[in-house]
Amino acid sequence: MKTGSASIDIAADWIRNCSKLFVLTGAGVSKESGIPTFRDAQEGLWADYNAEDLATPEGFLKDPPLVWQWYDWRRKKVQDVQPNPGHFALTEIEQIVPNFTLVTQNVDGLHRRAGSQNLIEIHGSILLFKCFDRGHEQKEIAFDLKVPPHCQCGSMVRPSVVWFGEAIPEKALKQSYDAAENCDVVLVVGTSGLVHPAASLPFLAKRTGAKIIEVNPNKTELTEGCDLFLAGPSGEILPKIVAGLKSKV
Ligand code: APR
Repeated sequence: MKTGSASIDIAADWIRNCSKLFVLTGAGVSKESGIPTFRDAQEGLWADYNAEDLATPEGFLKDPPLVWQWYDWRRKKVQDVQPNPGHFALTEIEQIVPNFTLVTQNVDGLHRRAGSQNLIEIHGSILLFKCFDRGHEQKEIAFDLKVPPHCQCGSMVRPSVVWFGEAIPEKALKQSYDAAENCDVVLVVGTSGLVHPAASLPFLAKRTGAKIIEVNPNKTELTEGCDLFLAGPSGEILPKIVAGLKSKV
């Protein structure tokens, strides 16, 4: 596996010459916008709770106000921040590479706000809501509600995210598999690679011959299987890749 600063040029070359690029992002890409990762978000007021309490269907049914208020707090955080240079760089790469798919595990909506178009939010969105029993989509929901509102069908409303133990919606999963299996370069950014099936997508691509580039300040579960590791924050590395792409267009 290659590492180091000359690797930016190699990454730019691979991306420039690829016919289909598949990008997978995780919480790290939003770090420089000030969005706490799931683990960071369990701080302060929420430090006494774990993932089972806050991000599972069982946790929601056990204590709907608790889960509702946690998501309300996170939705406010997301609303108060802006996409960072890493998000914008991916939008630029999409404009340069003709065939581009971005799968994000993030629920914060920042890729969409930065202008990404061919985007699959594989874990849903914290900005959208559906009813618990039947998945009916909901219109705008006010902030600061202390308890979940109810759908017209009578069910409680919940955030439209994929909780631990829940399946990824079939359409999003199929589109993600298709994109991964048909690409020739993968760019993995800011994910620890611990949560499946998202973390398996780069290796599906590798099986069909794709090269994998990873951008992360730290090595991860995925690093060993990657062809190129670019160590650093995505808000710095991704704009450098864009500059490399533009320098030879
Ligand atoms: N730029 C890029 N990567 C960064 C940065 C940065 N500035 N800062 C931190 N990272 C990296 C960390 O080194 C880590 O590898 O981002 C990764 C974040 O890992 P996680 O917090 O585990 O986030 P993620 O991989 O997205 O988690 C997957 O797990 O919490 C659940 O469902 C939730 O979608 C989430 C899933």
